[in-house]
Amino acid sequence: RKNGLQVAIDGPASAGKSTVAKRVAKQFHYIYCDTGAMYRAITLQAIRQGVSFDDVDEIGKIVHASKITFEPSDDGQKVFIDGKEITEAIRQEDVTNSVSAVAAIGEVRKQLSAQQQEIAKDGGIVMDGRDIGTAVLPDAEVKIFLIASVAERAQRRYKENIQKGINTPLDELQLEIEARDYKDSHRKISPLTKAKDAVEIDTTSLSIDQVVSKIADVINKTLK
Ligand code: CDP
Ligand code: CDP
Repeated sequence: RKNGLQVAIDGPASAGKSTVAKRVAKQFHYIYCDTGAMYRAITLQAIRQGVSFDDVDEIGKIVHASKITFEPSDDGQKVFIDGKEITEAIRQEDVTNSVSAVAAIGEVRKQLSAQQQEIAKDGGIVMDGRDIGTAVLPDAEVKIFLIASVAERAQRRYKENIQKGINTPLDELQLEIEARDYKDSHRKISPLTKAKDAVEIDTTSLSIDQVVSKIADVINKTLK
């Protein structure tokens, strides 16, 4: 590919995908694309327009009418919908709790996957999500599946929240993560699952640096 490899990073919620994907992209001078942010953007738009999550037709209209764009920033990227910045807004709890329902809609997946394939077509990209190695980029040269125990993932989200001044109880976060993983793994279209040719990394007791270095090893081996 013109600009380098396609690196697909998938896994359940809070396994560390976006954190390590950003770092890996920086190290290899690749683009980073957070596909979860795209599903979150459509969800936010539905909430703002008062569209119900089971109104498949209306949500289909939103996905056709909305333009999602990214801009690089110091700590990753800024996200925009129709030119308006939504970087912070898409992380709100109401979006997090509804995004799996929106992501299960066929028309939403079809449109967003096509946009993701366009972004990735020349390679030189690290793309993270749930179905990148299985459905969006089935020919990606590098596929990583990141996992961690649910207790560890809840703990990570808890610490992240505390830094932002949000104090959701740990057990509530764990239930939210479990519910989202269940929905993401059980939907009909491109559910969360490890691609046959993906390298699985259990990050439960690994530091961010250790995970980044393991992924860099896989990339370097592939580049040789
Ligand atoms: O960062 P976090 O684990 O909270 O999730 P995310 O990557 O922002 O993704 C949010 C949600 O979008 C997921 O729970 C999925 O429902 C959906 N998603 C998806 O269906 N397919 C993708 N490729 C990426 C995200
Ligand atoms: O994108 P995803 O939902 O998979 O996870 P994330 O938002 O990148 O990571 C969740 C949190 O876990 C972040 O605050 C990271 O700093 C932390 N993390 C960690 O503690 N240890 C790792 N090996 C990877 C991430």
